[in-house]
Amino acid sequence: MKWFAQAPANLALIKYMGKLDPKSNIPSNASLSYTLDHLCSFVELEQYDGAEDIWQPLEYHDCVALELAPAAISRFLAHLQCVKNYFNCDDHFIVRSANNFLSDCGLASSASSFAALTKVAVMACCDLAKREVPTIYEQAKLSQLGSGSSCRSFFTPWALWSGNEIAAVDLPYQNLLHMVVVVDALAKKVSSSSAHQRVSSSLLFIDRAARAEQRLEHLVHKLQMHEWEAASVIVWQEFWDMHALFETATPPFGYMAPGSLQILQAVREVWCSQGDGPIATMDAGPNVHLLFRSDQQKLYDDLKLYFVTDYELLSMSF
Ligand code: PMV
Repeated sequence: MKWFAQAPANLALIKYMGKLDPKSNIPSNASLSYTLDHLCSFVELEQYDGAEDIWQPLEYHDCVALELAPAAISRFLAHLQCVKNYFNCDDHFIVRSANNFLSDCGLASSASSFAALTKVAVMACCDLAKREVPTIYEQAKLSQLGSGSSCRSFFTPWALWSGNEIAAVDLPYQNLLHMVVVVDALAKKVSSSSAHQRVSSSLLFIDRAARAEQRLEHLVHKLQMHEWEAASVIVWQEFWDMHALFETATPPFGYMAPGSLQILQAVREVWCSQGDGPIATMDAGPNVHLLFRSDQQKLYDDLKLYFVTDYELLSMSF
C-alpha cells in the first residue's frame, strides 16, 4: 500500500530561534509565519517487508532530484519512527520525498518536509490501525517533535506558534506575493538545529524572548491596522536581531553574504525612493525573502527584473 501527502514551507516574520526544551522543540519565544503555498514538499510512504525504514528520492513532476546527507536521512527516518511509536505501528516503509525548491539553504525545506512526512505517516498509521485521523492541531504537535517550525506549516496563510499553542491567526494580507532572491544555493554550514543551541551563548540572548514577544505584539497590531510600512520595519529589526544572535554567539557564526547585503540595500532604496516597498526577511541562510501586497504586482515585476539583470542572481518567483 502507498500513501502520499504534501505540505508547504512557511516564512517566519517573528523568528523561532532558541529552545526551552530541545527534545520536544519547545520554543524560547512565540513566532508568526506566512505560509508559502507554492514552496512544497511531497512525501510518499510505501509499506514493505524490509527490516527497517529506508529513504529514497521521489520523482515527482518537475521537482529537482533530492540528495540528502546521511545525517538528514537519519533525522527524517527518526521522525517517522516517532510518529509510528505514537500510533504503535510496527510496519516498515520506503519513504520517498521531493521538494519543488532548493533544500538546506535557508529556504525552510525542513518545515515543509517534516510537515509532509508527519501528514503522510499519520495517514498510513491510522489507515493500518483503522483508526480516525487526529486533528490538524495534534498532527502539528507531532510534527513539531521532528522540526519545530514545521508545526506552522499546518495552518494558512498566517500561523502563530506560542508555547503549546499553534493556530491559524486571522490577519489582513491573505494573498501576499513572495519572491526569494537566492544569493547562494549551497548547503548551510551551520544547520538551524545547531543555531538554536549556539545562540544561547550570546549575551543578546538574555533578553531575546522579551524582544521577540514585544515585536510580535506590535507586528500583529500593525498588520491589523494595515500599516504595511511599520510592519516592514518590525520584520526588518527582527531578522537582524536573529542574525545578531548568530554573530555574537561564542564562537560567532553567520549566514550573511555580500549578495544578501546588496539585496537588502536595494530594498532600502526602493522604500526611500518610492515611500513603499516589500517586507524583507532572512532565515538561517544568506537568501533574502521578499513579501509584496497583492496591489504591488508592478513593483514585484520590476524588482524581479532588476535583481536578475543587475546582480545576476537567481530569482525564484511564483
Ligand atoms: O524548525 P527549525 O529547527 O529548522 O528552525 C527554523 C528556524 C528559522 O527558520 C531560522 C526561524 C523560523 O522561525 O522559521
